[in-house]
Amino acid sequence: MADHSFAILGTGSYAPDRVMTNDELAQTLDTSDEWIISRTGIRERHIAAPGQTTSDMAAHAARGALKDAGILAESIDLVIVATVTGDMPMPATACIVQAKLGVPSHAACFDVQAACSGFIYALDTAWAMLQSGRFQRALVIGAEKLSSVLDWTDRSTCVLFGDAAGAVVIGPPASGSSGQILGTKLYSDGGNTELLCIPGGGSSHPKPGEGVPPRHILMKGREVFKFAVREMEDAARDILEHYDVSADEVSCVIPHQANLRIIDSIALYLKIPVARFFVNLDRFGNTSAASIPLAIDEARRLGRVKPGDTTLLVAFGAGLTYGSALVRW
Ligand code: ACO
Repeated sequence: MADHSFAILGTGSYAPDRVMTNDELAQTLDTSDEWIISRTGIRERHIAAPGQTTSDMAAHAARGALKDAGILAESIDLVIVATVTGDMPMPATACIVQAKLGVPSHAACFDVQAACSGFIYALDTAWAMLQSGRFQRALVIGAEKLSSVLDWTDRSTCVLFGDAAGAVVIGPPASGSSGQILGTKLYSDGGNTELLCIPGGGSSHPKPGEGVPPRHILMKGREVFKFAVREMEDAARDILEHYDVSADEVSCVIPHQANLRIIDSIALYLKIPVARFFVNLDRFGNTSAASIPLAIDEARRLGRVKPGDTTLLVAFGAGLTYGSALVRW
């Protein structure tokens, strides 16, 4: 039986100032605001400034979460950053964030790569490490500069994504509105890696060149769509059943923000009114590992998550990975 005595103590988020609308994209691509909204629900996304890094955005969101939790960076002993767009292949972006925040050197800092499910994987990892008794307070961050891995001439992918970061502080529950982590579920289907990937830039194809796969997102959208609906539904059902929580008890679902049609389908299959799903993809697009912590922070600030509420988090991403988590506020 899981130890439930750890909670989300504070949340923070950050999105770059620069907003790119669908109409702006339509100036250089064969697309339209109408197509993008009707197929995805996305109206605009935030794009990082040229010199702005994933760690800059992560640190920004983390400072917000620390402030919200009333905790100093000095008392953090674990930093996990979920990202597919780390500042560089080595070192981990979490180490760069550590230095930016002033987290002490006795802290463990590393990155988790599970694409858009990355935040749920990182949350699960941090929770398990706290439960081991060896760590006290963790910063769990999802941060992405996806604008750096897009083919801006490919209308089937570049219109979908944006840049942002979100962060939570986890530790022993304090009084106030902390979110008790009830449980998590993680899954992966590694037989479908080619459906969604960045094929170049890794050790199999380190250097760009003729015949070498590109270092940007390639996706078979229709197949990914079907997988997302099927597996997010499974991950949601599975966790509700496992922790004996009924769909009626879930006051807010915070899904990975990829496509409004995916969210509508899951709501239908789970028989949870779509009004109970928190949606902000219209303003941010798909921000991969940042999507769920960004949405949690907004949902709390907008009063969509109140003390006593049970929140279901559910995500899917490249891998193909998927996962879910239950948090009671
Ligand atoms: N503007 C106009 N037309 C477009 C655009 C665009 N931006 N993109 C594609 N089209 C065209 C296609 O070329 C195609 O034209 P054709 O019929 O002449 O061949 C037509 O629109 C239909 O294309 P589909 O791909 O079948 O469109 P679909 O309705 O499936 O929507 C989409 C595409 C939005 C990508 C959808 O499949 C989707 O959302 N899939 C899931 C993607 C996703 O969630 N990815 C998550 C990534 S998570 C991570 O880990 C990074």
